[in-house]
Amino acid sequence: MSYTIAIAGKGGTGKTTLASLFIRLLKEDNSGSILAVDADPNNNLAENLGVKVKETVGSILDAVSRSPEKIPAGMPKDTFIEYQVQTSITEAPGFDLLAMGRPEGPGCYCYVNNLLREITAKLMKDYDYVVIDNEAGFEHLSRRTTRACDSLLVVSDATRAGLRAAGRINALVKELNISAKRNLFLINGSDKILEKEIIKKIGLDYIGNIPADPLITKASLNGASLMELDGGAVSLNALRKIKEKIWHRS
Ligand SMILES: Nc1ncnc2c1ncn2[C@@H]1O[C@H](COP(=O)(O)OP(=O)(O)OP(=O)(O)O)[C@@H](O)[C@H]1O
Ligand SMILES: [Mg+2]
Repeated sequence: MSYTIAIAGKGGTGKTTLASLFIRLLKEDNSGSILAVDADPNNNLAENLGVKVKETVGSILDAVSRSPEKIPAGMPKDTFIEYQVQTSITEAPGFDLLAMGRPEGPGCYCYVNNLLREITAKLMKDYDYVVIDNEAGFEHLSRRTTRACDSLLVVSDATRAGLRAAGRINALVKELNISAKRNLFLINGSDKILEKEIIKKIGLDYIGNIPADPLITKASLNGASLMELDGGAVSLNALRKIKEKIWHRS
């Protein structure tokens, strides 16, 4: 059974950075097979992990709708797409990466979303750990592409707007009956420990802080992969202390 970690939160709070650090630590711990899912159409996760993506699920769907004649005779369209998606997975040292992208062409998004949900649910079963980096905001929740997961980790900065967004995500998760076994949140980019009252208001389990890390700033400026981040980086050390709360199988 795979263990799925989905990451959500306001724009720019560090979702992609943390997804990369999770993959880095899961690999370091030899935790098992890992699938990184870049569910943000901007494909930042791949870049943060130093992976070049050739094809996205979106581009595959576009190609199929542009040239339906490429579907072998007698093969159902969904089976063909599933096969194409499977071959689009990039193999990197220690993990695989699936990039969602977004289809450009016209068409029914319900069909696309349903198909994506089915295909990814199937693919995810083949891995021990799946880490999903979502785009900012709430759309992935309302579209239900973030549905069942083991840990839903909401990332916030130490700002009122970030915390408000975290609270809203929690409300939406309840409203939409999204079943996460753990509903967690952490503060990224700051040492500021939150007061109990603020935590209570957000309604998610507060697991700690990842401080601002000059080595991440440097890597980001240089476009360097976070898989190469110095093992003693303050962000990695902080995450090592709380990782059990995110992905320890109990
Ligand atoms: N702990 C940290 N210390 C220093 N810089 C950080 C830290 N976390 C994230 N950053 C930097 O903050 C910026 C935004 O981070 P990131 O891209 O991970 O956010 P995001 O939530 O994925 O953004 P988006 O909503 O656009 O997808 C990046 O330049 C990243 O390098
Ligand atoms: Mg991001």
